[in-house]
Amino acid sequence: MRTRLSLFALVMLVAALLLSGCTAQHKHHLPQARGVPLGVVADSAMVVSAHPMASAVGVEVLRQGGNAIDAAVAVHWALAVVAPWAGNIGGGGFMVIRMADGTTASLDFREVAPAAATRDMYLDRSGSVVPGKSEHGHLAVGVPGSVAGLFAVHDSLGRLPMERLMQPAIDLATQGCALTPLEARDLNAAMPMLRRYSTQPFAFAAKDRWAAGDTLRQPELASTLSRIRDGGVEELSEGLTAELLLKEMQRGGGIITRADLAAYRPAWRPALQGRYRDLEVITMGPPSSGGILLLQMLRGMETASPAVWAGPSKALIHRIVEVERRAFADRAKYLGDPDFVEVPLQGLLDPGYIDERMADISAEEATPSNTILAGDPLHEPMHTTHFSIVDAEGNAVSCTTTLNGWYGSGVVVGGAGFVLNNEMDDFSAAPGVPNAYGLTGGEANAIQPGKRMLSSMAPTILTRNEELFMVLGTPGGSTIPTSVFQAVLNVVDHGMGMQEAVEAKRFHHQWQPDTVRMEPGAISTVDSSALVGMGHAFKLSSSIGRVDAVLRLPDGRLEGGADPRGDDTGIGY
Ligand code: DON
Repeated sequence: MRTRLSLFALVMLVAALLLSGCTAQHKHHLPQARGVPLGVVADSAMVVSAHPMASAVGVEVLRQGGNAIDAAVAVHWALAVVAPWAGNIGGGGFMVIRMADGTTASLDFREVAPAAATRDMYLDRSGSVVPGKSEHGHLAVGVPGSVAGLFAVHDSLGRLPMERLMQPAIDLATQGCALTPLEARDLNAAMPMLRRYSTQPFAFAAKDRWAAGDTLRQPELASTLSRIRDGGVEELSEGLTAELLLKEMQRGGGIITRADLAAYRPAWRPALQGRYRDLEVITMGPPSSGGILLLQMLRGMETASPAVWAGPSKALIHRIVEVERRAFADRAKYLGDPDFVEVPLQGLLDPGYIDERMADISAEEATPSNTILAGDPLHEPMHTTHFSIVDAEGNAVSCTTTLNGWYGSGVVVGGAGFVLNNEMDDFSAAPGVPNAYGLTGGEANAIQPGKRMLSSMAPTILTRNEELFMVLGTPGGSTIPTSVFQAVLNVVDHGMGMQEAVEAKRFHHQWQPDTVRMEPGAISTVDSSALVGMGHAFKLSSSIGRVDAVLRLPDGRLEGGADPRGDDTGIGY
């Protein structure tokens, strides 16, 4: 008990310091030689996550003798409390791991379709997709994977007892924590959706309007976490938490059953491995498309002619866009859950194949993407969350976890205080019909009972000469692989530091819709008008991605890159 209290006290102390004045250390950059932003730098270990309190929890676990896996587990539990818009126990995710001895693994704790799901469940009688049906409410919910995933990774590779890793989250839920300005704004905006789709009172509605600094207490979530701590993974299939989830499903017309909860299993899969220049890339394979897209795009840049790199910036931007467009076209056709469909992994990653795909990129003209139904990804919810952790021994964890949309399906489990995902929208509801991210798909990603919906998440680790080099990932739906891709190019090819690479403006092309989305300032007006002349179309996006990353500097220290687009914070020692 004493350890629990002292760990919590330390976390609160660090978090209080962070929130009062030195909030988000990355915002106060140490000047670097070139005057560019430098992230928080540490000698031994680093945690970068979407929330200062979650990062503080992770660092304390490391200081108390936990390894990177323990810290990842504790950060994930903490994010479920302090970042409930994406941190979760009702969602799922992917974790890529590289231990200091060079062994690698990836854990897939992605949600699956319930047994009663059917391929046409989001269609009306005439066969058209019912707008919103896969995105909101009880029918949008996939069978959650996070709790099973956290226990699986902890059982295999963790060091500290699970109860110690859960206690900071339980304490944060019980005692509450102060909302940041961004969180207060987002919570107010999400409230109508949460009220509409949840069937019972919930903690987020304790106030009608939240302001920065207000304390959000989540007693029901604290009880749920305590039950999971005491009952283990079975709490979600046999315990009171399962009971409450099933009652919520019945009240709201959902289809998840006890058998679905009992049948869920996370999957250890070999991490996807590839190369970029002199770096080894360790990333997530199917059922995420993220790693395949990343490797295809990196190869497409490696083979670009020297003129592309040396020429005007418009030539480089054009190449990046064309490479992204081609990679995403493959995604739509070939990728899905490898337990259900044959994903031609070797073929898709074969350098000869990728080179052939990239061979028709013209230096002068944009290649029009075929015009099929276009979505409007400008309205995409920007709310998944990623964290990157390196411990003092050199073990590294890259984890992206999600409810899919902002506060997921909008359903808070009555009496249990946690939000359920709307991951079912990542399936292809009908061939060629775009999902919330404007992504289309076909047979490979059609709905089937027990199948995992295709993801874009791309938790990634890079090594050079068998030494850890970089750990990174991001939220952002379809923009995830391109944000990771551009952050890698920024460091490897443009010589940026980690914070600088994370802060750099981004742009994105995903084949369909045939538009380059860009953050304001990502591409100069001169370049964008030249690129329009080449046939590219542009659309502004207020923000693309939220990359949290760690870079090993040449002197061996670690630089955290925490994305200033959110409350993201790196803390190291
Ligand atoms: O798995 C996927 O690709 C999506 N469900 C991720 C959603 C996401 O990143 C939303 N946030 N920004």
